[in-house]
Formats: sequence, C-alpha cells, structure tokens
Amino acid sequence: MSVQTAKKRVAILISGRGSNMVSLIEAARAPDYPAEIVLVLANRPDAAGLTRAREAGIPARAIDHKAFSDRTGFDAALQAELDAAGIELIVLAGFMRILTDAFVEAWAGRMINIHPSLLPLFKGTHTHERALEAGVRLHGCTVHYVVPELDAGPIVAQAAVPVLPGDDADALAARVIVQEHRLYPAALALIAGGGAVLDGGRVRLAETEHDAGAALISL
Ligand code: GRF
Repeated sequence: MSVQTAKKRVAILISGRGSNMVSLIEAARAPDYPAEIVLVLANRPDAAGLTRAREAGIPARAIDHKAFSDRTGFDAALQAELDAAGIELIVLAGFMRILTDAFVEAWAGRMINIHPSLLPLFKGTHTHERALEAGVRLHGCTVHYVVPELDAGPIVAQAAVPVLPGDDADALAARVIVQEHRLYPAALALIAGGGAVLDGGRVRLAETEHDAGAALISL
C-alpha cells in the first residue's frame, strides 16, 4: 500500500507578468506533484500575472504596497493572507518588493526565490546586461532559499545556458527564461517532496535525487 503524503500548500508572490508563476501552476496540475498552488499575491494591482492566475482558477489578490506607510505594515497584511490560506511554503516569482528581515526570518527555510543569474555571480538587477559586460561564457538562473541578505540564500538548483556571440540582453534573457520555467517547478518539487533539505546553510539533495539534481543543469 502506498502512503499518500499531503501536498504542501504554496503561495506564489509576484509583481509583474508571472511567467514563472504560470509554469509552476501548470506543473502543479500533475496528480503526483508534491505541492499545490493555493494562492497568488501581488504587491501591484496592475500585475498582469494576477489575471493569468485567475484564468487558471487560482485565487489571486493584490495587496498594494502603496497603501501602507511602511514595510512592516505591508508584511503584516501579507502574513494575514498567508495565515488565512494555511500556506506552508512561499515561492517568490518576480516579486520586486523587499521584505523585512522579521518577515524573512519568520519564513526561514520555507521561502524560495528564482534569480536570473548563476549565483553568487550578479546579485541584484540587470543581470543579463552585467553578464554580457563581464564577458562570461556561461549564464543562467538559480533557485535559492530567501535570507535577509538579497540573493544570498542557500542554493537549491541552477540551470546554465551558453552566452553566444552576438547576444544582447534580450536574447540572453530569452534563453535564460526558458530554463527558469523548467528549473523552478523542478526545484519546488524537490523541496516540497523532501528530496532537498536545508543542512547547515546548504541544500543537501537526497540520494534518490542526485540524478534529478544533475539534470537541472542544461547546456
Ligand atoms: C524572472 O526573470 C525572475 O528570475 C526574476 O524576475 C523575472 C520574473 O519574470 N526574479 P516572470 O514575472 O516570472 O515572467
């Protein structure tokens, strides 16, 4: 008899178009996917991803950060929505609002982000332009746990792409986003299914997942 473990209840936080969100929602439709997307929240009412989430049948709400006088008030509103929905894991997908240290600490080990570079290279914004400027031959994306320092948490998974002659930032971004859409659902499955665990500030892959971890590197 197989034991069915409960799916992790996930909220996705967005600020914009939500293409990573869509890839996560689609992956989570698989019956054996270990997480379910139960809520999408945006800090901007005009985030295009809100409409895409609703079209996919996922409850989606805006909490306009401009309605709050400080970050603490905004984070408290966020927390109230997450509590009401019984959220166990937060997935940041193009969420462009800095969260307070207190909020990040409260969700330590239960909140992940995707960043469009091979961390620890190119933390922050304009990663594709900076990769081209630096002349790297490989670029990519990273899924990592969120810690108070920006783009610095333990790495869950990475995907690499080549930088090709003639690339501009848009061409490189287009190559990276294809891998983001593949990487993020795979990384969330690893975490929600227990195949990746935090261990002393690093992420350890379960032995059964070693192949899966390697397959996330794509050239
Ligand atoms: C992605 O490139 C992601 O890595 C970065 O913001 C972008 C969000 O794109 N954090 P989308 O909203 O998922 O389409």
